[in-house]
Amino acid sequence: MPIVTNKELLVKAKAGHYAVPAFNTNNLEYIQAILQAASELHSPVILEAAKSEVDYMGGHTFVGIVRSIVADLSIPVGIHLDHGPSYDEAIRAIHYGFKSVMYDGSLLPLDENIANTKAVVKAAHACGVTVEGEIGVIGQAANSPEGAKHDMIGIADPVQCERFVKETGIDCLAAGIGNAHGIYKKKPELHFDVLADIEKRVGGIPLVLHGGTGIPEEDLRKAITMGVSKINFGTVMRKAFIEQLAIDIKGPMDWELMALLTPAKNKMIETAKNHIRMVMSNGKA
Ligand code: 13P
Repeated sequence: MPIVTNKELLVKAKAGHYAVPAFNTNNLEYIQAILQAASELHSPVILEAAKSEVDYMGGHTFVGIVRSIVADLSIPVGIHLDHGPSYDEAIRAIHYGFKSVMYDGSLLPLDENIANTKAVVKAAHACGVTVEGEIGVIGQAANSPEGAKHDMIGIADPVQCERFVKETGIDCLAAGIGNAHGIYKKKPELHFDVLADIEKRVGGIPLVLHGGTGIPEEDLRKAITMGVSKINFGTVMRKAFIEQLAIDIKGPMDWELMALLTPAKNKMIETAKNHIRMVMSNGKA
């Protein structure tokens, strides 16, 4: 199947009352694990990469490998730039063949965030690429490839969200509601009252929940009933891979790299499947 835009995936998810899982991607094993898990469970899926991940893999390499595997699958797949830090990075991702980009101006004053996001939307839409915008600063519970932000969790202002969506023309909105990237130090407290107000004001565009690692399943599902249609998972996959690798590295070394990486990759397949089931996208492809 061809690569599709996030807008296409998310509008369908919102209508169908599930969310599309978006997994951060670092290397070949990730790409294979995510696509195998989604394909076996007949789930739509998004492979996303933040700037550091794009730089590590190479943008053309990442998109080329995903496209070549997806050509033989019968599930819809998105390729998305996570937390694009600038207009230039968004344009570069479009050049690589990403079908969706996020521009993250959430640390900027609102007017500047609106102006920059609007410019990204204009260029992206001209290329048939859809855009995710951010408002309200999604916190940083631990170091992660999205780039360190302040150790704070910002709660979005629903009135600002309404203005942001109207003036920028974005296709989906990531709003901070108490979520954070990385391992939560205590049980995350999502502000569902804020989410409900945002959903009421933004004219039905799909909402995105970042920092999916560690949010309890019942909270993920509650957020889905309230308009969240894309949920990002990063740390949980890295943790699954690294923990298994650490166990295997302690075992006898026979210098077989593929044998060493396979159990770690299998852990990621299992983890991706668990999270696909949590967001109820299995069987929706
Ligand atoms: P986690 O690493 O907390 O799952 O968050 C990933 C994310 O939101 C990427 O944007």
